[in-house]
Amino acid sequence: MEWRVPLADIDYGQEEANAVLGVLQRKWLTMGEVTQTFEKAFAEAHGARFAFGVTNATVALHLACLALDIHSGDEVIVPSLSFVATANAVLYTGAEVRFADVIGLDELTIDPEEIRKQITPKTRAIMVMHYGGYPCRMEDILTIAHDYHLYVIEDAAHAPGASLNGKSLGVWGDVGCFSFFSNKNLSTGEGGMILTNREDLAEKIRLLRSHGMTTLTYDRHRGHAFSYDVLALGYNYRIDEIHSALGIEQLKKLSRNNALRKKWSELYWRELADLPLIFPFAKSNGQSACHLFPVILPRAVNRERFMQSMKDQGVQTSIHYPPIHQFSYYRSRYNQVVLQNTEQAGLREVTLPLYPTMGEEKVMLVVEAVRTALRKAQD
Ligand SMILES: Cc1ncc(COP(=O)(O)O)c(C=O)c1O
Repeated sequence: MEWRVPLADIDYGQEEANAVLGVLQRKWLTMGEVTQTFEKAFAEAHGARFAFGVTNATVALHLACLALDIHSGDEVIVPSLSFVATANAVLYTGAEVRFADVIGLDELTIDPEEIRKQITPKTRAIMVMHYGGYPCRMEDILTIAHDYHLYVIEDAAHAPGASLNGKSLGVWGDVGCFSFFSNKNLSTGEGGMILTNREDLAEKIRLLRSHGMTTLTYDRHRGHAFSYDVLALGYNYRIDEIHSALGIEQLKKLSRNNALRKKWSELYWRELADLPLIFPFAKSNGQSACHLFPVILPRAVNRERFMQSMKDQGVQTSIHYPPIHQFSYYRSRYNQVVLQNTEQAGLREVTLPLYPTMGEEKVMLVVEAVRTALRKAQD
C-alpha cells in the first residue's frame, strides 16, 4: 500500500551505497576491519569500553543473559510492554521471566516499585527497556539492583544516542543491547550491538558470539593464527562487513537525525495539545532518541476505528505493544499475570509516524488526520 505518511522511513543516501560498494571492492565480507571500526565508533559515541557487533538485538539480549550466566532456575524481571524478544531472550537460557508493570500511561517504562514486588530468591537480573528511546528511571533501578545484588541488562533497541544525566543509555547497567533493524534510528536492515564496561563480560561475549572459538577466520586470513580452540558452547551471532559499513554511515547521521525526531515530536505535542489524548513522556527526563511517538486514546474511542480512519487517510499507525504476557504462548506459561497499566496501554496506545526526514508538512498532515479519526472513532 502506498502511504501518504508511513510509520517510519530510513535516511539512506549515496553515502550508504558507497560504503557497501567499498566493502564489495575490498572483497572481505565477514567480520573484519569495517566491523572493528563500527564497534569502536559506536563504543566511543556511547562512552563504553567494549562494543560487539552482532546479527540483531535479539541475539544481543541472549548473549547478555549468557554472559551473566543466567540459566535454568533463575528469574529475570522484564517489562511486558515491549517487543517479545525482550522476554524471549531470557527464556532461551532456561530461566523464567517475571513481568513488572510500567509506571503509568504517561510514562511507559518499567516501574521501579513494581520491580521490587517481583523480586524473589531466584531473581538474578532486571532487564529494562527504554521505550521509544525514553530513559527508564535508571537511578532507582540501579539502587534496587545494588540492594538485592542483581544484574541490570538494558534493552536499548530504541535508544542509540539517548542519554540520562549526560550518560548514554546502554551503559548504565552491566550490558546494553541495541537494534539496527530497518525501522530503527540507526538502521542496517538487520544488525545489533552490545555494549559493556566490564572486561569479564566482554571476554565472554567475544567468545560466545563466534562459536566459543579462540580465533576468527579474519585472524587466520591475516596470518595471525593457524588454528583455534573452542572454550565454550558458542553461537554464530556475528555481524558482517556490509551491515557494519551501513552502520558507520548511519552512526554519522545519528545525532542530527535524533534531533530531527525530537523536533517533530515537539511539533506533535504542540499541535495536538488541545485533544483529549495522553502523551507519554511529554515530561520526560534526559535526552531521548525519540524513536517512537506514542499517544494514548481516551477510553471512549474505539482504537480499531481510529486506526482504520488513519489508514483511510493514508497515514500508517502501529501499536507498541500488545503486552507480551497476553500472547498465547506466554499466557500458556504465565497465566496468572495481571498488569494494570501495561494492559491499559496495550488497549489504548497508538503510535503515530515519526522519522527524521518527514518534515513539518507531513507532521501537520498527521495532526489533521488524528483530529478526523478521533471524531470518527468516538463510541
Ligand atoms: C524493544 C525491542 N527489543 C528487542 C528487539 C529485537 O531487535 P532485533 O529485531 O534487532 O532482533 C526489538 C526490535 O524490534 C525491540 O523493539
